Amino acid sequence: MFSSIEEVKNKLTQQKYLINDRLATGVFLAAKLQKPLLIEGPAGVGKTELAKVVAKALDTELIRLQCYEGLDESKSLFEWNYQKQLLRIQANHLTDKTWEETKANIFSEEFYLPRPIMKALQAEKPVVLLVDELDKSDEEFESFLLEALSDYQVSIPELGTVKAKSIPMVVLTSNNYRDFSDALKRRCIHLYIDYPSFERELAIVRLKVPGINEALAEKIVRFVQSVRKMVLKKSPSISETLDWARTLVLLGVDTLDQELVLNTLNILLKYQQDIKKVEERIGGLLPD
Ligand SMILES: Nc1ncnc2c1ncn2[C@@H]1O[C@H](COP(=O)(O)OP(=O)(O)OP(=O)(O)O)[C@@H](O)[C@H]1O
Ligand SMILES: [Mg+2]
Repeated sequence: MFSSIEEVKNKLTQQKYLINDRLATGVFLAAKLQKPLLIEGPAGVGKTELAKVVAKALDTELIRLQCYEGLDESKSLFEWNYQKQLLRIQANHLTDKTWEETKANIFSEEFYLPRPIMKALQAEKPVVLLVDELDKSDEEFESFLLEALSDYQVSIPELGTVKAKSIPMVVLTSNNYRDFSDALKRRCIHLYIDYPSFERELAIVRLKVPGINEALAEKIVRFVQSVRKMVLKKSPSISETLDWARTLVLLGVDTLDQELVLNTLNILLKYQQDIKKVEERIGGLLPD
């Protein structure tokens, strides 16, 4: 558990994740109040990474549930192990057990496969439960999740109510593909991660690309920051800045010139139309 906002910042920095005061406050409160943390923001700004580093900082397990359309209770909470149940039915049949006996037997703990939410609730020590890209799931799943997280227990017809052995730190992430219900938002500590400021992005590059030439790092970040001001199909994110910085280090360069930028722009931008736009304005973005 974190004892202060300062500790959140320090421990995450140790995990090479740089966080501003607002985000650190959100993480601290979510942990303290045992409320889920709902993180929204564009692609590649560190939403998933935040959950991973929080788990490391708390020295606990990360259990990840990746959301997709059609995700339901059986894939997220628990499933009966039909194969094992069938084998037991066959075996019991041979030993003349009654159907009532068999039924009581095969709908017990021995015969189910816990999925991420159940695993998180059953862990002896509080884990970090990452429900990644919740906006990709359906609304029914969101309601189910809300219910499970509102009192950290779930009811299963054959087993009754299953209470959490430990309360997980829950992190929900979203790319704003769809909006969530007010009920869910009310239940969570809501954070928005935006693209980083020049200073923070430079610090991230220094931290994650050790040995990078200081002047080069500054030029890279300044360039990326101006590209982000353009209207593009997909703005470069922190992951792309890092990929680009690593590429340039690999190429052994220590400063940026127009030709080099144009030759490596495909690392930073993923759409041809964006690359073209930047090419056309390269003179303004990177004066010779
Ligand atoms: N604050 C930060 N400090 C250090 N590294 C960061 C930070 N934010 C992002 N990164 C780096 O950026 C990469 C991308 O982050 P991540 O995969 O968490 O993005 P995301 O927001 O989950 O994106 P998506 O919406 O595409 O899933 C991470 O691997 C991490 O190295
Ligand atoms: Mg992610």
